[in-house]
Amino acid sequence: MAVTISIGSGKGGTGKTMFLCNLAMLLAKRGRKVCLVDLDIGGADAHLQFGLFEPKHSITDFLSKKVNCLGDVLHTFHSLNGLQIIPGTGNTLQTANMTYQEKQRLLREVAALDVDVVLIDVGAGTAYHTLDFFMFSDIQICVILPEPPSILDFYNFIQLATIRKILRSFLSHSEVGQVLKQHTFPTLAAIFELAEKTQEGAREKAQDALRYFHPLLVINRDSSHTAINKTKLKQLVAKYLGIETPSLGEIPEDVMVKDAQKAYRPVCEIFPETPASMAMVKISSKVDKIIELFNHQRNNSDK
Ligand SMILES: Nc1ncnc2c1ncn2[C@@H]1O[C@H](COP(=O)(O)OP(=O)(O)O)[C@@H](O)[C@H]1O
Ligand SMILES: [Mg+2]
Repeated sequence: MAVTISIGSGKGGTGKTMFLCNLAMLLAKRGRKVCLVDLDIGGADAHLQFGLFEPKHSITDFLSKKVNCLGDVLHTFHSLNGLQIIPGTGNTLQTANMTYQEKQRLLREVAALDVDVVLIDVGAGTAYHTLDFFMFSDIQICVILPEPPSILDFYNFIQLATIRKILRSFLSHSEVGQVLKQHTFPTLAAIFELAEKTQEGAREKAQDALRYFHPLLVINRDSSHTAINKTKLKQLVAKYLGIETPSLGEIPEDVMVKDAQKAYRPVCEIFPETPASMAMVKISSKVDKIIELFNHQRNNSDK
């Protein structure tokens, strides 16, 4: 069974797609069977980063049932260790107004892909689809910029994603579901409190929904002028959201990233010695270990 990893952030332009494409390529190079799924509805462009300008099929074909299964949409890059991609789509009405059943069908097939790792680009924003795609995965990664607005976006994104996840653990017509939907919350503790006040035992159920939620943080476009204190950021998230956000590392600002994009190739492929590439190699090795650990834990809990 594949390990699913989603990449999000809240705002566009933080480098999610750049990072995801390079991570996908690097994990494939390490011998993992990898499929990148572009669920950035409206802004899908991961295929372009590999020079795939006109994919034969996209997710729209799957949603509109032009093809039978998600596997029919796959494109394989033989020159990149067999890396596979499921190209996303433009913002058609079909994708923008995906029904609950369509979304479930899509996610079921994503989880059933015959690979070791599925990497999902969930795109930007805080629409329900985006939050659901992000929280659907086994492991979450957030790519943020080292600037206060980006941090605020990240914070809002994580907060909404956690609330959405908690809400989904209650039936939407249940008393707790109805009450939680109508409020905004300054902290996660406030959600748990209101849930418990509405119904005894609801706190534990809400906490349970987030038991394994520890989004991993990548700070992109880092430089010596970086304005944020990384330790403080983690402390704030832990204090207000009650969530640990382990760091995967930083990717420096690097002009070669743009040069690689202009050449429609991942920077790690064509400029492996440039600082951004070297940082991503380090991060990919950490992600590889996390995948190993995850598989180990899953196998043990299956016994
Ligand atoms: N480390 C970096 N150094 C320089 N430019 C970068 C870096 N990371 C991303 N960029 C640039 O930022 C822009 C946004 O990146 P992209 O991956 O498309 O973001 P997102 O998917 O989050 O919207 C691109 O033009 C990309 O070249
Ligand atoms: Mg993107």
